[in-house]
Amino acid sequence: MTDTRHLYVHLPFCAHRCGYCDFVTVAGKNDQHRGYVDALLRELELERASLAPELETVFLGGGTPTFTALPELVRLLEALPPAAEVTTEANPETVTPELARALRDAGVTRVSLGAQTFRPELLRVLERVAGPDDVRRAVHHLRDAGFDNISLDLIYGIPGQSASDLSADLDDALALEPEHLSCYELEAKPGTRFTHAWGEELGRQADAMEDYFERVVATLTGAGYRWYETANFCRTDAGRDLRSRHNLAYWLGRDYLGIGIGAVSTIESRRWRNRSQLGRYLTALATGRPPEREVEELAGDVRARERVMLGLRLDEPLPLAGLRHALDASGLARVEQLGLAERTASTLALTERGRYLGGAVTAELLV
Ligand SMILES: C[S@@+](CC[C@H](N)C(=O)[O-])C[C@H]1O[C@@H](n2cnc3c(N)ncnc32)[C@H](O)[C@@H]1O
Ligand code: SF4
Repeated sequence: MTDTRHLYVHLPFCAHRCGYCDFVTVAGKNDQHRGYVDALLRELELERASLAPELETVFLGGGTPTFTALPELVRLLEALPPAAEVTTEANPETVTPELARALRDAGVTRVSLGAQTFRPELLRVLERVAGPDDVRRAVHHLRDAGFDNISLDLIYGIPGQSASDLSADLDDALALEPEHLSCYELEAKPGTRFTHAWGEELGRQADAMEDYFERVVATLTGAGYRWYETANFCRTDAGRDLRSRHNLAYWLGRDYLGIGIGAVSTIESRRWRNRSQLGRYLTALATGRPPEREVEELAGDVRARERVMLGLRLDEPLPLAGLRHALDASGLARVEQLGLAERTASTLALTERGRYLGGAVTAELLV
């Protein structure tokens, strides 16, 4: 038994594959949902000893977890160990009153909805199924079912998106009063169909990204949200800590178990990633074997460097105990002098300017 208190469950099924998406997804194969849930539960059984007796968080990510046939999704949720925070990702068009109630009854405490944008023409660029009204309806159904912790995902830097489109998206999202917002810069992988189709426009957008990021932060902090992680914001007026506890666990370098195709686990000095092929995953678990995996033994300094990289994304200072050997003294002096980071005897934090520059500053700091 280890002290791993965070469980990630990957549900890969989607109605179709959106052009920009680089996650492990499976479109079609609707007849495999039942077999996949069986396999997930077998994998969990095989790995049960790696989990602590009580979990803090469970996160169902995708894919589109809420596209999974509802009886199978409920069967899965009911079989998973309980946790203080149970999040599921959801695509807006899948959220019916029935689904919202079923999630609530099965112990889900938090729903993360992929809105991306409220502009119909930009949703079309992203090849999304949902329209802006589907997002609004989904939030209302979730509220009616009793959810008091809803997160919305937005993407900026979409081909054709102007600064005023982004402002309108932020206003539309704020009007729904979500407890939490994640705002991601669009990542377009070279060589994909999407990048091929939008290459020139993506190049133009790249020049605007710094401004867009600043606009996101200024608008959301101006509306009273806490910018607690590079791309994540939460309300502070509810008398509760509304940061994503599951994602905080990643940023704080905690151990986690991931099950399902493509899922990653990091426990003590070992990291493994399940291979992404659905058929091979199902076959292995049907015969009681663990799924095929790539395993990496992590040297101590790898985890220390990751702790620095991830920890500096947060708005709370990073405690330096055990991490000093991962820092480059001259790099640290340089970024401090430039006003990008601040140090106390025992902690390190990026300044506001440093947080905008993010990874570039962190790269300077690491040995
Ligand atoms: C696991 S994904 C998918 C969740 C859900 N299936 C959906 O599409 O709404 C979680 C979030 O990652 C973000 N995301 C996905 N692909 C992205 C990309 N290429 N660049 C930036 N953000 C992306 C989206 O905001 C998405 O809601
Ligand atoms: S619905 Fe979400 S996970 Fe599925 S393909 Fe689209 S972006 Fe990717």
